[in-house]
Formats: sequence, C-alpha cells, structure tokens
Amino acid sequence: MKNIQFFDTTLRDGEQTPGVNFNTKEKVQIALQLEKWGIDTIEAGFPIASEGDFEAVQAIAGAAKRMTVAGLARCQTKDIDRAYEALKDAVHPQIHIFLATSPIHMEYKLKMTPKEVIASIGEHVSYAKTKFEKVQFSPEDATRTEKDFLLKAVQTAIDAGATIINIPDTVGYSNPTEYGQLFSYLIENIESEQEIIFSSHCHDDLGMATANALAAIENGARRVEGTVNGIGERAGNTALEEVALALYIRKDFYQAESNIVFNETKRTSDLVSRLSGVAVPRNKAIIGANAYAHESGIHQDGVLKNPDTYEIITPSLVGVNTNSLPLGKLSGRHAFATKMEELGYQFTEDELKTAFKSFKALADKKKQVTDEDLIALMVGQTQELEECCHLERVQLQYVSDGSQGAIVSMKTGETETKMESAIGSGSIQAIYNSIDKIMEQKPELKQYSIKAITGGEDAQAEVYVTVQDSRTKKQFNGTGIDFDVLQASAKAYVQASERFKREMEQMK
Ligand code: KIV
Ligand code: ZN
Repeated sequence: MKNIQFFDTTLRDGEQTPGVNFNTKEKVQIALQLEKWGIDTIEAGFPIASEGDFEAVQAIAGAAKRMTVAGLARCQTKDIDRAYEALKDAVHPQIHIFLATSPIHMEYKLKMTPKEVIASIGEHVSYAKTKFEKVQFSPEDATRTEKDFLLKAVQTAIDAGATIINIPDTVGYSNPTEYGQLFSYLIENIESEQEIIFSSHCHDDLGMATANALAAIENGARRVEGTVNGIGERAGNTALEEVALALYIRKDFYQAESNIVFNETKRTSDLVSRLSGVAVPRNKAIIGANAYAHESGIHQDGVLKNPDTYEIITPSLVGVNTNSLPLGKLSGRHAFATKMEELGYQFTEDELKTAFKSFKALADKKKQVTDEDLIALMVGQTQELEECCHLERVQLQYVSDGSQGAIVSMKTGETETKMESAIGSGSIQAIYNSIDKIMEQKPELKQYSIKAITGGEDAQAEVYVTVQDSRTKKQFNGTGIDFDVLQASAKAYVQASERFKREMEQMK
C-alpha cells in the first residue's frame, strides 16, 4: 500500500470561488477542522496578496500542530520573503512557488520568453530553498505546456532544490488518460538523487477533476491537491472527499491509503459550506443530502434486506449519522454535553453554558433536535461571534395583496444599535431594503437560495445569499440558519452585507 498525501487548498484556490471571502478567524476554524480531518498539508493562503492573507497564513502557521502549512508565491523574491515571514513560526512550513509554462501564458500573460521562464524558475526555487526546507514548484497550465519544455521546467526546479512537483491542470483541460500519461512521462524522465513527490492539481471545467487526480495517483503521484466540496475558481477544484473515499472504497484497485479520518468528512464539508456560503448540491457525491437516500421501491427493498445491495459507502463512515438519537426540550445539560462530545466538540465551562442556552432556545421551537441541527447551531454561533453586525429583531407587516413592510434593528458595533424600516414587494425584499438602509449601502442581490437542514415541518432553514458590487462585480456570500425562514434570510443578508461593507471600506 502506498500512502497518498492530501494537500488542501480550500483557503487559497477555494477562496477564489466568486463570493467566497473568509475572515482570519473563519480560516483558522477551517484549518483546525482540516487538521482533524487528517489533511497532511494546508495551503493557508497567498501571503503577498493582501494584509488579510498574510495575517491568516501567520495565524494558521501558529495554530496548526501536525499539518504542514504552505504559502503560495510567484517566482518573485518579494513573494518568497513575504511567505517566509508569514510561515516562520509554523511547526512544519512549506513554500509553493509557481510560474506558468504554457505557450499562451508565457506569451500573453507573462510576456516572457521560454528561456526567461526557465531562468526565473532556477533563480527563485534556489532562493526559496535558502529559506525553506520543503519547496514545492508548480508549472502553471502544465497540461497545455509542450511536454519537452515541461520536463525542462520541472528538472530545473528539481536541480534548484524543489522536492515536490505539482502538475496543475489549471484550466481543467486534460482527461484521465492524458493526465496519467503526463505523470508517467515526467516521473520516468526526471533525474534526481533525492526522492521527488509528484502531486496532482486539477480543475473541474470538464467535470473530470476527480478522475484526473485518480489517474495521476495510478501513474505515480503521491500527493493530491484539492478543496473541500470541490469549491474553487470557475467550476472548482478536485473535491478531496471524493478522492479520499474513492481510494478507500476501491483500495483493491488503487492499493493506496491516506491519513484522512473519514468520519470527520461530513463535519468538514458542512463547516466549509456554511462559512463559504456555497451550498452543497443534493446529488453531490459523498456529502450531498441525497447521497444515502434510496428512492425506488426496488432499491429500498434491497437496502432493507442488505445495505450492500445499493450502498457502497456506509453513511456513518463519512460521519453521516442516520440513526443517531435526537435531543429534545427535556434533554439536560449532561445529555447535551455528551452528544456534543460525540460530535467532536469540546467546550470550556463558559462555552458549554452559552451553547446549552442556544440549544434550549432551539429545542423550545423544535420537537427533535438532530445532529445536523446541533452542528448548524454551532456554526451559526461562531459566525455570530466573528461578526460585528448582528441582527437583533425583525418585525413585519404583511398584506396578501400589496407592498410588505419591515422594521429591522441591528447591532452595528460594540454598543451601537440601529433601526430602520422599508417596504418591498415581498417580505424578504422589505427586510433587505431595511438592512441596506442601516448599512448605508445598496449591493446587488445576485442569488438567494433556501434549504431545510432536516426533514419535518419544524426543520431549520438554511439560506444562502450572494450580493455583488455593481461596479467591480466582486461577489460576497452569506449564510443564515434559523428556525424561521425570514430570520434566516435576514441573517444571511447581514453576513453578506457586512463582508461587502468591509471590502468597500478597504477600497476607499
Ligand atoms: O490552478 C493552478 O494552476 C494553480 C496554481 C497556482 C498551482 O492554482
Ligand atoms: Zn488551481
């Protein structure tokens, strides 16, 4: 059995998803969950890109204990210095340097000749090696690069000290046969006295990111890069949960293992979905709501007789608990604490007090509080703590055949509360118009979606919204969870609006 290392870039490539902007606390929260999930290396960000990115990489470098923490850098001395500054306190630091090698990128984007590209790789990988023991190099757009030139670029990086070579399918252009062959070709033809780890990095433009990553593994890659839920630029990156489960379920074929802790998968996915504001499609492999639902009578009959008939993954393997006992309004503090511990939460006395209070408030409205509800409650609670704007109250005036009215009050600072009213053609529009007045801005609402977290009439609602700056077209997501759909809608909009405001203020 070979061991496949998992490299997570949710906080870097994943954050390049339109509308996704994590703050530092959210990034640290995700990083710690990724560590629990068994990720080997986390790409915490691109330190030169902004103050915020630098701060987040530094915070994660300080928080991660077991994982290697990587920072991205272009082939530029200032990028490498900035990455070094951000990562110098990490227990296991790593730099990830990239430079495009495809003809189209070299000519139009970089405006560099192939000779200049090779020289820059040699110079900057050597420089990085003076600061980092672990240096990873990526020839960007590798799959549209001429093979001989790609080999030359890779060999130059190895000669300069890189020990990890990542082959990005930057635009999701490759297919499993071709991508696999590229790994065989490079692995057979490089020369090195040291062990070189080859890594896959795929984008999903043609829907082949997972298949391509697996083909790379079949052909010698020992590391896979990707994101949780497959979020990322355009159609996204390889979904790491898919690769992890494919390796495990088809161990007979791949002869590979990983350090992934499978029963943390669902929790990791939920956390990223809620903090990114990107909903997981119901039919998504491994973690979608329908992944373990059996609809047809024949299937249901089969599963009742023997789950193996139609179920290749046991839900509990990935942390989907289908038959766990729900809590209710009579459940005490001890039962609550035990259940939360089972779900992987550890609280201080004070945290337990606050969490229990929120649980009681929910249990007053909802007959059965399921594991899903509790996880949602925890994510919602930390989100509120991170943000300075909070929804306090929504009051509505509803008429069945006219304009709707809303009065919203919000905490907008440590001690400041503001209240505004507005009308709209629907209740949600009236609420959103009132929030806009409080925030003194008018972002464009690009997307609104709602789903029930669990089944049943008393299910909590989870709302996802995306707002956009009409000038720059930059998008910001927000998620809101509440027993009441209008309250959940308001919470999601407050979160997206606050992210929008922060960005607008930074741009001033
Ligand atoms: O897709 C890509 O090429 C990248 C590189 C920076 C590795 O994300
Ligand atoms: Zn990428």
